Parts: sequence; structure tokens; C-alpha cells
Amino acid sequence: MPNIAIISSSVRIGRNSHRVALFFQTYLQQNDLATVDLLDLYLYNFPIFDERLRMMKEPSPEILDFAYKITKAYGVIIVTPEYNGGYPASLKNVVDLLYAEWKRKPIAIATASNGQFGGTQVMTSLVFSLWKIGAWVVPAMYPGPKVQEVYDEKGVPVDKEEVNKRARVFVDELLWCIEAGKKMAIK
Ligand SMILES: Cc1cc2nc3c(=O)[nH]c(=O)nc-3n(C[C@H](O)[C@H](O)[C@H](O)COP(=O)(O)O)c2cc1C
Repeated sequence: MPNIAIISSSVRIGRNSHRVALFFQTYLQQNDLATVDLLDLYLYNFPIFDERLRMMKEPSPEILDFAYKITKAYGVIIVTPEYNGGYPASLKNVVDLLYAEWKRKPIAIATASNGQFGGTQVMTSLVFSLWKIGAWVVPAMYPGPKVQEVYDEKGVPVDKEEVNKRARVFVDELLWCIEAGKKMAIK
């Protein structure tokens, strides 16, 4: 079973997009699709970026832990809210922190918002940054509209059937890329 890292990007007080991260954690585990490391940027509480990990003389244990979990993951799901049409600073903070760890890493992006469009405008800027750093962005979308209504605080969807159906299509693309990567000995 592959290991998938889920990055929960929002560090906002009273955040709601974390529900989507919790949903994917449960979804992957309950369906025996992957083992999961939930990388919660709120809990990591990283200082604002001042240098890349490979240039740091004494990286903190938290930074090393984050880098290790990205390295060992076969694939990554990034759950990000949309803030003013872009992705949050907390996420850019960790994109810039690493380098080789992102190389050819299959990454699927799940977006979230409290509105009807599900935070999809984030894709333009986030896909570009991840492409630029050499990650392998999976051509799949998981928009999360009205996150505060669609999932409860533990990430359980109100309409399980509809949400699971969309998750399946999204996760299948990530798993396909993970398998393809293995065949090319990326991992
Ligand atoms: C600074 C800020 C900017 C926002 N900008 C957008 C936006 O551009 N589009 C949108 O659909 N929602 C926007 N929202 C609403 C968010 O979608 C909503 O607050 C959502 O719950 C954010 O995820 P979070 O709760 O995990 O932080 C914004 C919220 C904040 C706090």
C-alpha cells in the first residue's frame, strides 16, 4: 500500500478546509487505499520562510520531520483554501522550503472555499509554483464548495455517496500516477 502525505494548508483560527483533509485521511484509510501522514501546517507552526532547507545550518526537528514525510510519501494531496484568488502564505512557506523532495512527486490538489466555486481559482497559481519546482501535478481536481456545510468538523460528509464518488475519481488519478512513477523507478 502506498504512503500518501496530506498537507492541510490552512492555519487560520476557526479554519474549515481542514475538514477536507480529515475527510481524505479517513477515505484513504477506510478503503485501504494508502497509509496516511497528515501534515497539518497549523500544528507544524513553521516560522515565515527565511531560507531553503538545504541551505540551513541547523534546521529544526519539525522542518526535518516535514521534509522526511514528503520524501517518504509516494504521493501528496494538498488541501488548500482560496484566499483572494490565491493559495495561503502557509503553503508557499513549505513549497519554497524544500526542493529535491518535490522532484517528480505526484501531487493532487484539493481546493476549498465557503462559496459555491470550491476555491478552484487557486489552481492557476499553485499549479504553476509546483510545476516550477519540478513536482508532478496530477491532472485531476477536487473542488470543495461550501466546506462548512458539506463536511462536519471531523470531516464526515453530509452526503457521503456524492462526496465519495468525486473523491474516488480524484484519488484514482493520484494512484495511477504513483503506479506509473514506480514503473519508471521514480520511487
Ligand atoms: C483572507 C481570506 C480571503 C478569502 N478569499 C476568498 C476567495 O478569493 N474566494 C473564495 O471563494 N473564498 C475566499 N475566502 C473565504 C474562504 O473560502 C473561507 O473562509 C474558507 O473557509 C477558507 O478556508 P479555511 O477556513 O480553512 O481558512 C477568503 C477567506 C479569507 C480568510
